[in-house]
Amino acid sequence: MLVAKGVTKFYGKLQVLKGVDLMIKSGEVVSIVGSSGAGKSTLLHILGTLDHADSGEIQLGGRRVDLLKGKPLAAFRNLHAGFVFQFHHLLPEFTALENVCIPGWIAGTKKKEVEARAKELLGWLGLRDREENKPSALSGGEQQRVAVARALINRPEIVFADEPTGNLDSANANELHHLFIRLRQEFGQTFLIVTHNEELASMSDRTLHMKDGRIADV
Ligand SMILES: Nc1ncnc2c1ncn2[C@@H]1O[C@H](COP(=O)(O)OP(=O)(O)OP(=O)(O)O)[C@@H](O)[C@H]1O
Ligand SMILES: [Mg+2]
Repeated sequence: MLVAKGVTKFYGKLQVLKGVDLMIKSGEVVSIVGSSGAGKSTLLHILGTLDHADSGEIQLGGRRVDLLKGKPLAAFRNLHAGFVFQFHHLLPEFTALENVCIPGWIAGTKKKEVEARAKELLGWLGLRDREENKPSALSGGEQQRVAVARALINRPEIVFADEPTGNLDSANANELHHLFIRLRQEFGQTFLIVTHNEELASMSDRTLHMKDGRIADV
């Protein structure tokens, strides 16, 4: 599903990634842990096509995504990858339902179809009666679940999450962890999650340890 070979990245003279190899299978929940500055976010952004590597290959769903540029890249990312970040990045002027729908509208899917799927997802995430709320009228845990629904609207092959529970209290963090596992169990959703949360790492199928710009063997 996701294969990376020899991924390197420099920021000026600083080599942040020194040849990362990894493989994620469809339906796996894999976490990445490592100390601050180890390069976890840099790697996640590159794997998710939000940033370019200096060298190396990345295949997602059998396609060489590192070779994509411009509009085809943006279209590929919108359809095939979902993202959840530490801060939800919901658009404040739009309701929860609209925020979830936006990537579907961008993809050109029929408006009614997108809305039906968004409602289904929000219902599944326990947010049916919060659909019309704007982000400021949602709790932190609810905002993050809306962000998860938005990540899933186009049925991506993989969801990339960068410290998704980093801004939540332990009860909401716990709920989100279980949510990821349920999404995997019920829909076979694949996740790659950067986390400092040991509980979340322990619930995943595999944990990759990043150290000194590489995935360390453990
Ligand atoms: N745009 C940038 N320009 C220059 N240096 C950068 C840039 N982004 C990240 N870095 C540096 O690259 C290194 C890795 O950063 P990265 O954000 O990937 O770490 P991380 O493992 O996600 O850390 P954290 O756990 O604190 O989020 C750090 O030393 C950071 O200062
Ligand atoms: Mg980071």
